[in-house]
Amino acid sequence: MLVTRTVEELSEALASMELSLGNDGALVPTMGALHEGHGALMRVARQSNAWVAATIFVNPLQFNRPDDLARYPRREGEDFLLLQEHGVDLVFAPSPEVVFPLGWVAPELDLDGLDLLWEGAFRPGHFKGVATVVNRLLDLIPCANLYMGQKDYQQCLVVERLLCLRKAMLVQLGPALVKVPTVRDGDGLALSSRNLLLAPDQLERAKGIARTWSWMKAHGQGLQPEALVEGALERLTAEGLRNEYLVFVRDGSLEPWKRGDGAPRALYAGWLDEVRLIDNESLAIA
Ligand code: PAF
Repeated sequence: MLVTRTVEELSEALASMELSLGNDGALVPTMGALHEGHGALMRVARQSNAWVAATIFVNPLQFNRPDDLARYPRREGEDFLLLQEHGVDLVFAPSPEVVFPLGWVAPELDLDGLDLLWEGAFRPGHFKGVATVVNRLLDLIPCANLYMGQKDYQQCLVVERLLCLRKAMLVQLGPALVKVPTVRDGDGLALSSRNLLLAPDQLERAKGIARTWSWMKAHGQGLQPEALVEGALERLTAEGLRNEYLVFVRDGSLEPWKRGDGAPRALYAGWLDEVRLIDNESLAIA
């Protein structure tokens, strides 16, 4: 596994890989603090690409709170081991100055309002930051397939929009976005780098989100959607979470869900003490 930190090292490594393996590769962008959810991305990418590149970069542009950026977990040594175990060919682990050098100007990206709702409303500027860094990483690492986890449902929609913009600007025909299902622990807790910030008793309370999904699935047929959301919010509060939003959207979009749209996708965000958690689940209540 090649580890690169500068654009020059990266270009050299990509050139050598493309010569030996072909120009049909995958990019898996991450912010490190990797877990088995990332492992799933690497595994799926490994199955259908000549080469797999992963990036580890804690992108300052997508943090709307300095304290959140400062305490974001960083553990590069363990990350490299996980990437190696999953057969990743190339790692790009740059500093902010390498990704956004002095004089570099971020292109204006019209995200069609997808960056303003839900996560975007609670974390102003977050998705512009995500789109900017993913756009930059795709310029640096041209690839056929881009892999992202469905746990970040809205992020996937924003990145799909970015890929359409890139196609329209003819920057690149590809890549295709491959969305990989959320990986959960035995109790249904969605794996997340932020779980590392939780003490054991907090982790137990975080599992209240999974318990609430089960409750919603069990009561989905019997209750009106409004009553289901209300009941779920009450349960989440009782589990010790401070809710930000719980909403049903038409699966694959951010459009409000209505009966007849098929199974809704429920999007949730809430705080467990000082740690913000998000999750989403498809609920067969139609
Ligand atoms: O999902 C993440 O880890 C980040 O938002 C991403 C896509 C790597 C961009 O920094």
